[in-house]
Amino acid sequence: MTVEGTRVSRRWLALREPADAAARAPDLVETLRAHHPETGPRVIHDLGCGTGAMGRWLAPLLPGPQHWAVHDRDAELLDVAAAEPPGPAADGAAVTVEAKHSDLTRLRPGDLAGATIITASALLDVLTGDELAGLITVCAGAGCPVLLTLSVVGRVDLAPADPLDSRVAAAFDAHQRRTTERGRLLGPDAVAFAVGGFGRLGAEVLVRPSPWRLGASDAGLAAEWFTGWLGAACEQQPELAAETGAYARRRLAGTASGQLAVTVDHADLLILPRAQRAPG
Ligand SMILES: C[S@@+](CC[C@H](N)C(=O)[O-])C[C@H]1O[C@@H](n2cnc3c(N)ncnc32)[C@H](O)[C@@H]1O
Repeated sequence: MTVEGTRVSRRWLALREPADAAARAPDLVETLRAHHPETGPRVIHDLGCGTGAMGRWLAPLLPGPQHWAVHDRDAELLDVAAAEPPGPAADGAAVTVEAKHSDLTRLRPGDLAGATIITASALLDVLTGDELAGLITVCAGAGCPVLLTLSVVGRVDLAPADPLDSRVAAAFDAHQRRTTERGRLLGPDAVAFAVGGFGRLGAEVLVRPSPWRLGASDAGLAAEWFTGWLGAACEQQPELAAETGAYARRRLAGTASGQLAVTVDHADLLILPRAQRAPG
């Protein structure tokens, strides 16, 4: 979860990394492998890399030597991502890493030239429509597959249910779609926006669900996620704060005892450029 103007913490990224790895759609990697060059340079650009979780997950699933160019505007997170290359590759080949300290909304077409794969994870919801449109143009211009994982879609399920869940969820979604000085954020509309944008450029867009299913063994992540979810909802609708004190205590007790099951729906997208579309 990202709040405008607030840096994503290293602790939050470490907490979510195992759940993210378990949630990403494995069959999209199979398809990606089929489009990965068998020889020559394999250059993967990871956009909004944080501490490099995408590389730690994907590099060992792809064969051959790989060079990862990892991009983030947060120099501290980027330092972590660059400190240790991910991998090795599926066949034991070497993986190298290069840090790119940059604002993704200012990427220019040439910046991703030579990429053989572009990735991003948990990024799209914090962009405005104009920013995502620009990123789609730049990525499509590179002419390679683009794997965009773990975009929130605005569906959350807590079990057992509580009457306040739906109000908090609606306020959270409104917070995700709030207007900032950069424009209105896409929040849960980012997936449909990306599908439409890449589709209009003639690309094939594969969409898969990639939910977090948090249970007794994910108590720490579930509690942290819930606290951030409710906090954003109350920031959006301050009157909720007065009504959700007992609710928060009940829900946090449920995460600690393992009796609250949390499902946070996401979608993964694999975009295959026009030239790489399956025939037919
Ligand atoms: C939720 S974190 C996800 C990090 C990583 N992809 C992962 O899955 O662990 C989003 C990341 O995107 C970066 N980010 C957000 N907007 C950005 C922008 N305009 N330019 C560069 N990085 C950005 C943040 O600094 C953060 O590291």
